Amino acid sequence: MASTLALFLSLLAGQTCAHTFIWGVFVNSVDQGTNKGVRIPAYNGQNGKGGYNNSPVKDLDSIDMRCNVMGDVQAHDTIRVAPGDNLTFDWHHEIRNDTDDVIASSHHGPSLIYISPDPPTENSFVKIWHEGKYESNPFPQAGKWSTTSDIAKNFGHMNVRVPEGLKAGYYLIRAEMIGLHEGDVSWKANPRRGAQFYADCVQIEVTGEGTIKLPEGVSFPGAYSYSDPGVVHNIYCSTETAKPKTSTTPCVTDYIIPGPTVWSGAWPQTTPVSVGPVTGATTATPWSTWIGTDSVVTSVTFVDVKSQTVVGSEKYTATWSEVYETPSATAARW
Ligand SMILES: *[C@@H]1O[C@H](CO)[C@@H](O)[C@H](O)[C@H]1NC(C)=O
Ligand SMILES: *[C@@H]1O[C@H](CO)[C@@H](O)[C@H](O)[C@H]1NC(C)=O
Repeated sequence: MASTLALFLSLLAGQTCAHTFIWGVFVNSVDQGTNKGVRIPAYNGQNGKGGYNNSPVKDLDSIDMRCNVMGDVQAHDTIRVAPGDNLTFDWHHEIRNDTDDVIASSHHGPSLIYISPDPPTENSFVKIWHEGKYESNPFPQAGKWSTTSDIAKNFGHMNVRVPEGLKAGYYLIRAEMIGLHEGDVSWKANPRRGAQFYADCVQIEVTGEGTIKLPEGVSFPGAYSYSDPGVVHNIYCSTETAKPKTSTTPCVTDYIIPGPTVWSGAWPQTTPVSVGPVTGATTATPWSTWIGTDSVVTSVTFVDVKSQTVVGSEKYTATWSEVYETPSATAARW
C-alpha cells in the first residue's frame, strides 16, 4: 500500500460518542511528532465519511483489547527512551491542541498504563500506573475520575516514567482510558451499553545497560472480565447517599480499578512534566473505518485521500507476529 493511500470504509454501528486516542508522545517534555511511534487505531465512525480514529472497544474477548482496532499494524517509527525518562502521552478527541476537550465530560473512568515486550506474549503486559476515582461527591454527581478530572483537565497529558533499570529492548506501552458512563451493565448483557475501552499502543526502544526484566503480567484480551467490579460499575449510584435512595441495587462506594496491581518496579508516582511545543499535524488524518460487527475489523477499503477514490480493498485479520519485526519505514498506513 502506498503511503499516499489511506484506509477507508463503510461500516455499521453509528453511535454518537466523544472519543479519544493518543496523538503523540513527549519524551522528557520534547514532542516526538504527531503519530510518531503510535499505533493509531482504525476508525469506526459513520458510513463512508472517514473521520477520527477514536471509538471504543467493548468486547473484552476481542483482540482489539490489546492495542485497539488494527493494533497489530505497526507504526513506522519507534521512540527511543532510557530508563527514568518521563513520557507524556498526548490524548485528544478532535484536534491536537489545548482547546480540544480530550474526552467527553460524561466519560468518567480510570486510566491505566501497561508495558510489554514487543511483540506481546502470554501474560506479558505489566501494569506500571493507574488512577481511578479519587474523590466522591454527593449523589447524583459522579465524583472525580482520572479520565475526566485529571487527564482531560490536564490537556490530555498522561504521564509515566520508564521503569528504572529496565533491560534494553523493544517494548509496547499500552495506555488506556476507560469510559464508565454506560458501565452500569456489561456489554455482554446489553451490547448497546457497557464500559468503553480506549487503549492505544506506543512502540518504544529502551536503551542503556539496565538488567531488570519485566515480571509476569496479564494478557490482552484476557486481563479484564465482565465480572470485574471495575468493568461493571454504576458511577452515579456509587456515590449515592440520598434517602430514600433512587436506586434499588446496593450502591458500591469504592471503585476497584480493573487488572492487576501496579508492578513494584514501576515508579511509585507519576511526574507531571511541562511539555514543549507540538510538532507535526494537529488535525486527524481520516483513514479508516471498519466493516464488521462490534469492534472486529473484517475488511478494509483503501481510498486515495486527495481524490477520495477507492483504489482497493481487502479482508483484514489481525496478525500478531510472535517475533519482533522491524517496522517498515514506508509500507502500510500513513
Ligand atoms: C523526570 O522527572 C523527574 C521529576 O521532575 C526528574 O527528577 C527527572 O530528572 C526526570 N527525568 C529525566 C530523564 O529528565
Ligand atoms: C488551537 O486551536 C485554536 C482554534 O482552532 C487556535 O486558535 C489556536 O491557535 C490553536 N493553538 C495552537 C497552539 O495551535
